[in-house]
Amino acid sequence: MTQPLRIGVLGSGSGSNCEAIMDACARGAVPAQVVVVLSDIADAFILERARRRGIPSALIGQSRFKTKLELELEAHLVALLREARVELVALAGYMRVVKQPLLEAFAGRIVNIHPSLLPSFPGLKSWEQALNYGAKVAGVTVHFVNEGVDTGPIILQEAAPILPGDTAESLHQRIHAVEHKLYPEAIRLIAEERLRIVGRRVDVVR
Ligand code: GRF
Repeated sequence: MTQPLRIGVLGSGSGSNCEAIMDACARGAVPAQVVVVLSDIADAFILERARRRGIPSALIGQSRFKTKLELELEAHLVALLREARVELVALAGYMRVVKQPLLEAFAGRIVNIHPSLLPSFPGLKSWEQALNYGAKVAGVTVHFVNEGVDTGPIILQEAAPILPGDTAESLHQRIHAVEHKLYPEAIRLIAEERLRIVGRRVDVVR
């Protein structure tokens, strides 16, 4: 049997997606294991979720910037991931734009989940953007991370309807439920080596 894929999760907030991934791995639904959880926010609940499961977790460090890390901090982050022998980096509500040297160190091995059907509504609070735009369908995208913001090759997408009377909260909840299913599913495909990237297209094989 091959060894489970070693995942490092990066997050800045509640970590419900991280929980779904840890849970799917623990249940054996995904042939992977979360070996480290790292956050740029000291009191982010994602760190507590890891602690409760006995999974190593750490604070990356304090950054002067809001949307990215200093070069030294990003280098430290790479060192932490390497130390844990991480093979796949999963961003789960990580609020910094990924830069070098992380991009280079884990080229093609970083994934993200975004709460919209990309390329619609990139950026922040995408469910609210979709609602305010008057869209009838929202959704979720899991994609590889490249140097852009929410622009990498798409692995999986799933729609979620926008219903009459929806508020930002009710829609966000519906989207979260889709996320918690879709992210582990995408990671399963990666762990089973079933993805082929052809230009911008990601094909699922077998
Ligand atoms: C999710 O909606 C995800 O799509 C976005 O950030 C949110 C994180 O939520 N990137 P959580 O911390 O996993 O609960």
